[in-house]
Amino acid sequence: MQKPVFLESQQVISTQNLVTEIEAGLLAESATIAPKFLYDGLGAHLFTAITLLPEYYPTAVETEILLQYKNEIATALGNDPILIDLGAGDCKKAARLFESIKPLSYVAIDFSVEYLKEALEKLQSQYADIPMYGIGMDFSHTLKLPETLSQTPRTFFYPGSSIGNFLPTEAHALLTQIKREALGGGLLIGVDLMKADRVLRAAYDDPLKITAAFNLNILRSVNAIIAANFDVSHFCHKVVINHSKERVELYLEALRDTSVSWHGKQRLFKKGELIHTENSHKYSIASIQDLLNRSGFQALKTWTDPEQYFAVIYAK
Ligand code: AVI
Repeated sequence: MQKPVFLESQQVISTQNLVTEIEAGLLAESATIAPKFLYDGLGAHLFTAITLLPEYYPTAVETEILLQYKNEIATALGNDPILIDLGAGDCKKAARLFESIKPLSYVAIDFSVEYLKEALEKLQSQYADIPMYGIGMDFSHTLKLPETLSQTPRTFFYPGSSIGNFLPTEAHALLTQIKREALGGGLLIGVDLMKADRVLRAAYDDPLKITAAFNLNILRSVNAIIAANFDVSHFCHKVVINHSKERVELYLEALRDTSVSWHGKQRLFKKGELIHTENSHKYSIASIQDLLNRSGFQALKTWTDPEQYFAVIYAK
């Protein structure tokens, strides 16, 4: 049976770098934990559960757009693209495109390597004729693909509005690097659009509390990485819709005075104090096209749903 090949990245996920990053966030005046730490083994599964929630519209609407326009998308991408899936997760979104775009090879990149391995092995057994590669990589600061990959034009696939989890300046930096790494190829990107508060609130504070569990699990993920002792029961999930910054913000709020310690360091949290864990920026079609332009891309095709909840853009 054909097995996916796992490639070494120059950007090895070094535990020391992760520890330094977490410590800096916990010791900052307004505490933060970067959203990539949401995706430990359990977090990746909780995110998959979120995508199945009826309230979490982005996955369903994006899937609808990708299915409805699959032939137009295949035409835009051209023949036999080398498909590079950024933040591949369970690889299901890319797999849905395989029949129409017929990739020459598929490269799945994710921060959560163990989860990726499981998903990619399953996918490889279903598509034995597509060579598949996996890369465990943290591209939140720098994106540099291994030189062992074919140096021909590549098509990046960045679905799910993951670009929204970056600050606009970081998103610009990442898109600029994608443009460079595409070697003349393109980018198929999914972007969530601004909409009514009630829809956003339901999507990020669902009644089954799956998003709350996903958010709170970041504390367990941090406990495991830096040997800390966060008590998850001392915090609750909090969602703020920030209109001036056009984003949904996720926080963990201390339910009582509490503290966390690790390696001789400590941080106290007063009741009501917040830890900022995620931003989810919402764009307009004009603002995402402008961001793509400023990053060296030109948006060639934009597909959206009738309610304009979500956009899929092919840019080159
Ligand atoms: C992965 N990312 C695009 C999700 C989002 O909607 O920003 C992460 C998420 N956070 C809470 N629910 C989903």
